[in-house]
Amino acid sequence: MNESTLGQGLFITFEGIDFCGKSTQARLFAQYLQDQGHTTLTLRDPGSSAISERIRAILLDLSHKEMSSYTELLLYEAARAQMVEQMIRPALSSGQLVVCDRFFDSTTAYQGYGRELDLAVIRQANELGSCGLTPHITFLIDLEPELALKRRRKSNRLKDRMEAEGLDFQNRVRNGFMTIAHENPQRIMVLRGDQSIQEIQQQIRLGFERVYNDQGRSL
Ligand code: TMP
Repeated sequence: MNESTLGQGLFITFEGIDFCGKSTQARLFAQYLQDQGHTTLTLRDPGSSAISERIRAILLDLSHKEMSSYTELLLYEAARAQMVEQMIRPALSSGQLVVCDRFFDSTTAYQGYGRELDLAVIRQANELGSCGLTPHITFLIDLEPELALKRRRKSNRLKDRMEAEGLDFQNRVRNGFMTIAHENPQRIMVLRGDQSIQEIQQQIRLGFERVYNDQGRSL
């Protein structure tokens, strides 16, 4: 039995390149679940616990230009392990729905396909950092990096260390996510990120209801 079947909880993740719209969708979806009467925990990876947020700050600090790819990998895994043990496991055990903005697919996409670290090493690191936990369902919002770049420029937000990587990097990450989705068709649902916020949210809800009903539950 996969550890993600702990208790009656469900573990739902959102993935995609920066500025694909996944954080907005995760927030709207968590609100929807709450409105349906579910106790829902909303998290972000890296982050959420106090320790993980401190690791996040180290990871995204633009001045840390000398950070090696392996340090980066291990810090993402360390942040995740703390969040899993401290927050996700207890929530799933008590039957909550956990909505997480990113999880180990991001490591495969960014450190594996983006940084081009050995995918076998990434798999092992992910096993450790996730403490063996796999999401029940993952929504991948796919967007062309050029479009994401336009959104970033419009937002006027300062770049963090990962966002400062160029278009080639973002393209490798995007293709990496699509490869991961092809390899995990049961778990990962791909949504086109160039649709309206409402359209994407509707597709997420329908996709989720299908999985939920398949498990003999009802919303
Ligand atoms: P966020 O801005 O979506 O919260 O993510 C922070 C940045 O960290 C984003 O650029 C993606 C990157 N990232 C990785 O490179 N590897 C990982 O394992 C995770 C979770 C995020």
